[in-house]
Amino acid sequence: MNAESGFEIKPVYDREDVPPGTEARIGEPGRYPYTRGVYPTMYTSRPWTMRQYAGFGTAAESNARYHQLLAAGTMGLSVAFDLPTQMGYDSDEPIAHGEVGKVGVAIDSIDDMRRLFHDIPLGKVSTSMTINAPGSVLLLLYQLVAEEQGVPGTALQGTIQNDILKEYIARGTYIFPPKPSLRLVADTFAYCRAEIPKWNTISISGYHMAEAGASPAQEIAFTLANGVEYVRAAMAAGLAVDDFAPRLSFFFVARTTLLEEIAKFRAARRMWARIMRDEFGAKDPKSLMLRFHTQTAGVQLTAQQPEVNLVRVAIQALGAVAGGTQSLHTNGYDEAIALPTEKAARLALRTQQVLAYESGLTGTVDPFAGSYAIEALTDEVEAAATTLMERVFAHGSAVEAIEQGFQKREIETSAYRIANEIDSGERVVVGVNRFTLDEEEHYEPLRVDPAIEAGQVARLAELRAQRDTAAVEAALADLQKAAGGTDNVLRPMREALRLRATVGEVCHTLRGVWGTYHPVERF
Ligand code: 3HC
Repeated sequence: MNAESGFEIKPVYDREDVPPGTEARIGEPGRYPYTRGVYPTMYTSRPWTMRQYAGFGTAAESNARYHQLLAAGTMGLSVAFDLPTQMGYDSDEPIAHGEVGKVGVAIDSIDDMRRLFHDIPLGKVSTSMTINAPGSVLLLLYQLVAEEQGVPGTALQGTIQNDILKEYIARGTYIFPPKPSLRLVADTFAYCRAEIPKWNTISISGYHMAEAGASPAQEIAFTLANGVEYVRAAMAAGLAVDDFAPRLSFFFVARTTLLEEIAKFRAARRMWARIMRDEFGAKDPKSLMLRFHTQTAGVQLTAQQPEVNLVRVAIQALGAVAGGTQSLHTNGYDEAIALPTEKAARLALRTQQVLAYESGLTGTVDPFAGSYAIEALTDEVEAAATTLMERVFAHGSAVEAIEQGFQKREIETSAYRIANEIDSGERVVVGVNRFTLDEEEHYEPLRVDPAIEAGQVARLAELRAQRDTAAVEAALADLQKAAGGTDNVLRPMREALRLRATVGEVCHTLRGVWGTYHPVERF
């Protein structure tokens, strides 16, 4: 196996494949190096969080879907935002036209955030928000709405993705250049430690790099290298490692290749524990624990024979659970076609519930431990990912490697190899290059009403007419001053948002001080 490829799974593994002393290197569940899981009891005391990513159209429409998911048994919320929100633009800006409410919910202001969580007790749910460059803005809107419900920041539980480095590598919803972006991440860490201490301040993601073609070893290596960059940035900003590291979290994919995915998760935990203890001197056990969310592999869903995706998602979810995930999103079987219908979203959740309540998997911790194959593969992923991390750092840092296009090139090479293997039939995709149908059955997908953009624009005009514009402008001027200095920007940002400044206005204020990121085109 090499870092760019998947695994050569051997026909037979035996004791020769597992070096002496493996038991000691694996360790115990809930103890360093956490190979077997971050908690001693794992799912025997409570299942992973079933956390279905959802959001589309207006805040009111998404609020209805959240109530449906909570009624169906989902244990945590996960907000998908539309692209204008993710890129820090308001719904009434020309650049937003045609994207409002399309791939997620449109959130322009505190008014929308209030609608999004209408009748949802924010002191009782944990909410993940997939938002990166403006992650701090949406977190503050969430805190402001919780305060209106009488819920203090100290009671809030959830996560913002806030992982700007993978946006430069694979996902693309960046705004500011790396330096101010890392400053904003560090400000967010410090703010949450003081104001929202149970909040997971970042979800360092490998998922999107995997979806772009990264192999398991690349996914782990580039994600953990980004994690190292965030830890360095926070410590350089004066934060003590044990003051923020316990609230770092991660996010990985679960592919259909079951054994290598289980090995991947176990290797990642062991690597991160060692890095945090040996490189950063972390002492708090929670600083050493790699807690992660998993999403089943969207890129492996097929538009052909979409029901076959129910089987793929079940196998992928099994890998995530056997690999010790803390939180899991299972994709809808129709998501290669469009956003999931309500039925597809419910079936995706039911897949998790069958795993949790019918399979018996929650009855024991890390069930594959000691397997010749799993332990050998865990060692292999760890070795390949460690070597690849060294290649990243040979560029100076993860940011410098990004600016030289290293990770992007490596992932593209891997993606090209996978595409060739599918084209040649070497890599079978059932229903696509084998076991195909002469004629696909019709499928009626979910459609987002294009009229929602007009409604969102009208609500913005009403907000701007009603608010105290002078007070908003003064608050944005305070934010501008903080962004140009060294004060934490989240407090002036929160005041501007409370006065009904919009997401776009806050981000434009920061663009005016920090500029915007333009990738270096390398061919
Ligand atoms: N023993 C002891 N304690 C336990 C336990 C056990 N067995 N199981 C759980 N607990 C405790 C935990 O310690 C925690 O308490 P704490 O917060 O005080 O430490 C509490 O119970 C909740 O457990 P977890 O923290 O394990 O579970 P959560 O679900 O709350 O958090 C997470 C999981 C991974 C840490 C968190 O960051 C999270 O929820 N992440 C979700 C990220 C997400 O949903 N992302 C969506 C991305 S979609 C996307 O990117 C877009 C598209 O492009 C794909």
